Amino acid sequence: MGRQAIVLNKSLSEMAGALNSNLSAAEKLNFLVQVASRSLGVRGCSLMLLDAKRKKLIHAATYGLSDRYLRAGLVEADRSLPEVMDGKTAVVVDTASDPRVQFGDMARQEKIASIIGVPVMCRGKVVGSLRAYNRIRREFTAAEEEYLITVANLAATVLESSGARVSAEGSVSTEAKTTLRRPAVRSPVRTVSFAHPSEEDFARLLDFYQIEWVYEPRSFMLEWEGDRVTEMFTPDFYLPGLDLYIEMTTLKPGLTSEKNRKVRRLRDLHPDIKIKLLARRDYDRLLAKYGHGPLAGAKTEGVGRTLFSADQIQMRVRQLAKEISQDYEGRRILLVGVLRGVLCFMADLMRYLEVSADMDFMALSYYGAGNGGEAVQITKDLDVGPDDRHVLLVEDIVDTGMTLSFVLAHLEARHPASLAVCTLLDKRVRRLTDVPLAYVGFEVPDEFLVGYGLDYREEYRNLPFIALVKQQGKEGDTAG
Ligand code: IMP
Ligand code: MG
Repeated sequence: MGRQAIVLNKSLSEMAGALNSNLSAAEKLNFLVQVASRSLGVRGCSLMLLDAKRKKLIHAATYGLSDRYLRAGLVEADRSLPEVMDGKTAVVVDTASDPRVQFGDMARQEKIASIIGVPVMCRGKVVGSLRAYNRIRREFTAAEEEYLITVANLAATVLESSGARVSAEGSVSTEAKTTLRRPAVRSPVRTVSFAHPSEEDFARLLDFYQIEWVYEPRSFMLEWEGDRVTEMFTPDFYLPGLDLYIEMTTLKPGLTSEKNRKVRRLRDLHPDIKIKLLARRDYDRLLAKYGHGPLAGAKTEGVGRTLFSADQIQMRVRQLAKEISQDYEGRRILLVGVLRGVLCFMADLMRYLEVSADMDFMALSYYGAGNGGEAVQITKDLDVGPDDRHVLLVEDIVDTGMTLSFVLAHLEARHPASLAVCTLLDKRVRRLTDVPLAYVGFEVPDEFLVGYGLDYREEYRNLPFIALVKQQGKEGDTAG
């Protein structure tokens, strides 16, 4: 056996040992790429997982590559070493001349001259790619290729045993949201170190609602002079399921206008990219809703300005009922309410309906109710099966949309004949996840509302009108 063969063999037994240990999935994957990189004597290695819907590869574990290189951009699966997606090995002997290298300039700056990529396969499907990056221009030997394929297989074993699921198209993700498990393979499995605690809070909130996220997923080039990049921008989060980037502004107000400028520039350069700027204040309000963050303890001084009087509400509910009755003529509706805020609206709505309707209720655990770290749970499910029924989900208010998208996924999985949403209030400016709303009573501003079923810490539900909560020293402003 040659020297390299001995080294490679030894490293495989080291890896097998690590797989048997009680390391986390992330630690195991990081260990695999690190040992592989050292044993091959290359510049670095990376394991990327496929986001099949968007056809992007996302770095899950890396070794030896600079942050700058990792943030060059999201790797396009059909453009960068595309043969790998067909289950084949791809070798780039010279990154300077090979069109299959997506970030050629960056590779050269990183002193990567050649690359080998092999597929990571789970149950016959390509779910990602394992790559080794070399400093010198060269072919890779058959033994090296075989070695990498073995390491890719080990990585696949780690992914499978971590509870990750492989979708029909080959995305590694967790099972349907209804399994109520925290995503096992969430974006970069490498340990995330957040720049700011509020970002970590936000990531926890996303975890709770089972929304996949990637922290600082990529950098966009904003300005350049010739070959030299003079300005880059790295959004804080990417939510693959929503295809949405999120940039959070920090405490320093001076930076906000700077970020606004960068986001505008990004939108100009990439009009196809969806990015949402979450201002510090909006973000604090969002967290306060769940009892977290600096605004959570804000004192209130009772009820402020009335937004909708009891008469206005009744008039609008009657109109909604009329529309619904026309749309559902000849069909029997199953009204499904999400407890508890919906109580008043549901009771009024059903009394104005002119078609026959059954009703049922669901209840969910709430982020911040002492179980912030876990995933959202259905604490009361339907008594009536929604299968083959015309389900109309009735909501008091849709805010971020996270609750609703969870409930919709749960209901859809049970095959109703039809499924639509009717909400009395739509706080559209705070929407994070797009949810289809068939019937909307009123669009409302980003203020905390109470009355007609809506509560602030279990107060004010019994008011017959809808009003703002008055915050101490601030007329009619939000309290959380
Ligand atoms: P989402 O998941 O962010 O859309 O949250 C929806 C839930 O948050 C609603 O069903 C309400 O229980 C609660 N919520 C959102 N905004 C308000 C508000 O202004 N007043 C009272 N409850 C609210
Ligand atoms: Mg609700």
